[in-house]
Amino acid sequence: MASSPSLVYGTAWKDVRTADLVLLAFVHGFRAVDTAAQPKHYREDLVGRGLQAAALQLDLRRHDYWVQTKFTPAAGQDLSGALPYNPDDPVAEQVCASFQSSLRNLFPDQDIPNVKRALAAYAESRGGKEKHRGPGLQPTYIDSYLLHSPLLTLEHTVQAWRVMELLVDAGFVREIGFSNVYSPEIFSALYGLARIKPSVLQNRWHSSTGHDVSLLSLLSPSLSPNTFPTYADGSTPRGIVYQPFWTLTGNPALLRSESVVKMCIKHDLTPAQVVYAYVHQGLGIAGLTGCVLTGTSDENHMREAVAATQLEPWSEEDISMVRQEVYGE
Ligand SMILES: NC(=O)c1ccc[n+]([C@@H]2O[C@H](COP(=O)([O-])OP(=O)(O)OC[C@H]3O[C@@H](n4cnc5c(N)ncnc54)[C@H](OP(=O)(O)O)[C@@H]3O)[C@@H](O)[C@H]2O)c1
Repeated sequence: MASSPSLVYGTAWKDVRTADLVLLAFVHGFRAVDTAAQPKHYREDLVGRGLQAAALQLDLRRHDYWVQTKFTPAAGQDLSGALPYNPDDPVAEQVCASFQSSLRNLFPDQDIPNVKRALAAYAESRGGKEKHRGPGLQPTYIDSYLLHSPLLTLEHTVQAWRVMELLVDAGFVREIGFSNVYSPEIFSALYGLARIKPSVLQNRWHSSTGHDVSLLSLLSPSLSPNTFPTYADGSTPRGIVYQPFWTLTGNPALLRSESVVKMCIKHDLTPAQVVYAYVHQGLGIAGLTGCVLTGTSDENHMREAVAATQLEPWSEEDISMVRQEVYGE
């Protein structure tokens, strides 16, 4: 899949059902998954098994689907359980080991190179020069690699990001991004320090953070003071894709609201579909690219999510009715 998808299947909390649900989601049209090297919430190994089964059943090649996983700092791990790295190691080592474990989990039938050694060889070959792209994509790669949350200090956060940048340079990863960054000041500081800029922000979409209103303008190429690279083919920059989670569970009042009910009647949709369509169409924020992230275990809800991302774009009047419900303007 060449560009970032607008619909992603979330694999948290599925435990032993993970592989079957990934396969089911793919059968219903999903072509992208989100997971994390965080054993307390995700069975990354079973995501790999599900992808393997889907590729076989649906005759998919690696470029037909999109895989996102995360480096989860020690503060987000269950330190009494199995971990994908040694939390006593330096941060850079932790990221390397976690990424290595993710590749093994997600591509169980592939020969996985030693990532740490490959990064060291790559760093040596570029002779200390900063270079954004190295040898092209590796045979086994991750499409999108996220920092699950900032680490406890800025220094450690930047150390983790530097390894993620090197993973892009060396062709192990196509894009990198942040998750759980809610302060526009912290986001801007990290953005400024990044040599390779984030392509994705995955955040909880909730009233307690104003539904990220002040962050969203930093993601949109039309509104952000940051400049975003134009693509080689001259197409408009996409900015940073916003991937909200808790979209349904965190917003029961929105799902019951008069605006959403009106849109359900007008477009013959369920409340969940109205909210997903609103996210998919950029939340009514100029230039913003929104991505629907759903972890449903229900076959009908899978179909509904796919359908919500295939609708004709709504009129400005329709979009702004939902936007006003969420953002008040
Ligand atoms: N970065 C992070 O820190 C972080 C944190 C949390 C989650 N995530 C990611 O986000 C994904 C999604 O998580 P989420 O917390 O947003 O919750 P979710 O797993 O998408 O769904 C939450 C609830 O919504 C229901 N639901 C889904 N589709 C529906 C529909 N069309 N109509 C009615 N109900 C529907 C589900 O029930 P059914 O199963 O019955 O449909 C479930 O009870 C996770 O799997 C994970 O990949 C990331």
